[in-house]
Amino acid sequence: MAKSKYEYVKEFELDDRLPPSNWIVVRIDGCHFHRFSSIHEFEKPNDSSALCLMNSCASSMLDHFPDIVFAYGVSDEYSFVLSEKSKFYQRRTSKIVSLFVSYFTSAYVMKWREFFPNKDLKELPYFDGRAVCYPKAKVIRDYLAWRQVDCHINNQYNTCFWMLVKSGKTEREAQLCLKGTQAKEKNEMLFNQFGINYDKLPEMFKKGSCVFRNKYLWFSKVNTQLPLFRHLHAKSYLKESRLSSKKWTNITLPFLCKFNSILKISS
Ligand code: GTP
Ligand code: MG
Repeated sequence: MAKSKYEYVKEFELDDRLPPSNWIVVRIDGCHFHRFSSIHEFEKPNDSSALCLMNSCASSMLDHFPDIVFAYGVSDEYSFVLSEKSKFYQRRTSKIVSLFVSYFTSAYVMKWREFFPNKDLKELPYFDGRAVCYPKAKVIRDYLAWRQVDCHINNQYNTCFWMLVKSGKTEREAQLCLKGTQAKEKNEMLFNQFGINYDKLPEMFKKGSCVFRNKYLWFSKVNTQLPLFRHLHAKSYLKESRLSSKKWTNITLPFLCKFNSILKISS
């Protein structure tokens, strides 16, 4: 069939394919969730229902997109890892990011009632997304460590901050109280002033959540610790468990080994 004279406009489309042999991470992040969480009266600093909703959406993502091998989430963000071998949509950035963002957002809206049976959705949630390539498993590990360290630092700060506010300080006073404090001082403040042992807080708050397919663990051979991701939320084939005692190989998920260093930073 003859091409129309308008056909040439296709040449303006950019080739946005991500390079081969690189791990792909798509990170999505809630837009204006500071406001969204306030409108919906999320518990401060961590709302278990909100976090479990995020986890459930991530689990649906793994159900729907077989190319996702691993997901890590904290607060209003989730990172989805695609294998270096993935040929999903010819690795086209805009396709992958837009599909992930829209599917996750739809899941969030659809599942809202399940996690907030007594709260109406008063505002539309929406997420942004970006894709980044990482050439080596080590860099993927460091990427996940970066997100998790962020989780830990923010959680420790926010736990102190909201305890101070709940005890009567203004937000400004709480901010000043915490200015320049080290992790140890924050832990002492929590324990001495509020009787909270930081180590005893839920793993999900301190370390974030991860989702992956359990079947990958069936090929276990290497005995390694997975101290980072102890908290799993998922459906049927995803099992909640502590993985540190399991033997498993990392044929499919090489970036998951050697997480011990992360544990040292984050605990
Ligand atoms: P943009 O992502 O730049 O649009 O800003 P944002 O408002 O979404 O803030 P950001 O992504 O930097 O941080 C997420 C924000 O979501 C936090 O600062 C909190 O205000 C809110 N948030 C996320 N999870 C929870 C939660 O469990 N409880 C409460 N109260 N707030 C949460
Ligand atoms: Mg956000």
